[in-house]
Amino acid sequence: MKPIFVTGGAGFIGSAFVRQILEATSDVKIINFDALTYAGNLENLNDLDAARHQFVKGDICDKDAVLKALPDETDAIFNFAAESHVDRSIASASEFVMTNVLGTQILLDAARAKNVRRFVQISTDEVMGTLPEDDAAFFTENSPIEPNSPYAASKAAAEHFVRAARETFGLDTIVTRCGNNYGQRQFPEKLIPLMISNAMNDEPLPVYGDGRNVRDWIFVEDHARAIWLAYEKGKSGESYNIGARNERQNIEVVQSILDALGKPHSLIKYVDDRLGHDRRYAIDAAKTENELGWKPLTDWETGLQKTIRWYRENQDWVNHIRNGAYRDYYKKLYGMEIAQSR
Ligand code: NAD
Ligand code: TYD
Repeated sequence: MKPIFVTGGAGFIGSAFVRQILEATSDVKIINFDALTYAGNLENLNDLDAARHQFVKGDICDKDAVLKALPDETDAIFNFAAESHVDRSIASASEFVMTNVLGTQILLDAARAKNVRRFVQISTDEVMGTLPEDDAAFFTENSPIEPNSPYAASKAAAEHFVRAARETFGLDTIVTRCGNNYGQRQFPEKLIPLMISNAMNDEPLPVYGDGRNVRDWIFVEDHARAIWLAYEKGKSGESYNIGARNERQNIEVVQSILDALGKPHSLIKYVDDRLGHDRRYAIDAAKTENELGWKPLTDWETGLQKTIRWYRENQDWVNHIRNGAYRDYYKKLYGMEIAQSR
């Protein structure tokens, strides 16, 4: 069995990755290291094969815990662990610096100490800032690093430390930069699951600003496959942009969700814009497609239907979150209460 070390594997994308790799391979054993912050959820992992998946609760900022959990000669570290929500980073940035920057550096040091073969850093298109509303403008791997939110700044800083570990110490590194993910098990603070869960509960759908900001959406399983290919086939030191050429204005996304759930557009509530709100993300994934032989398999209509179906069929999963600390978060950010769910 080939050991790999996945951090943040109890979160949205990490858990989708873990599930996919357990299914698609037979010779890989996963150590899933996750601090179980508000975004980590063991319910995301409860049906996995214990012989090939070992969960370890731990913080990537805790050097001793990382060194204890990471076996010598691990084939790769996949670093998903992060504070991941822009609005939370605007409210308070220091947790983002801790986990996203210091945590990444601690993992890089551990990778060298334990002779890990390859380090895969899961980054984001947001490190490249914002694009104008111009069909010819895309993020490529050569776009300048110009983060605008504290979240994006912390992910950009992490990328710099990954690069430094390679240039200084010769660590074998890969960076992946994906656009906005959607799919099953995404915490309902992000646009799509928040709108689905509010619509299911007949609550207002808060749309920031004029609702015309553009995001480039990708189904989470397509992202997970691209990460695995980048690990298997990527060139050391390179970064790979991942996107499904699926740009949508936020308002269009929100209306599609309401239509799919048979709910009225009158639930939409325009609210104050996010501070420093990036206008448009759009990814040119040609390098990933050409060098890694990857392409997305799930189109937007199918992916959105699948996602909505999952939330409808897993209302307990949503309600466990909505009935907890999330209520305070929601009230603080939106100035609105959400109803207790049954
Ligand atoms: P998420 O918030 O759903 O999950 C993050 C996970 O990391 C949680 O399980 C949490 O418990 C864990 N974690 C947080 N701090 C930790 C710490 N100090 N030590 C150990 N574990 C810790 O996030 P996600 O949406 O699944 O994103 C995963 C990664 O992908 C992040 O690095 C994010 O920057 C990146 N990314 C996300 C998107 C997106 O659209 N969600 C797009 C591109 C890149
Ligand atoms: P989000 O899911 O937070 O991802 P990101 O900011 O990392 O792209 O937000 C996606 C888009 O949706 C972004 O333009 C902000 C907008 N948005 C709203 O309009 N209302 C909301 O309640 C949230 C959470 C996001």
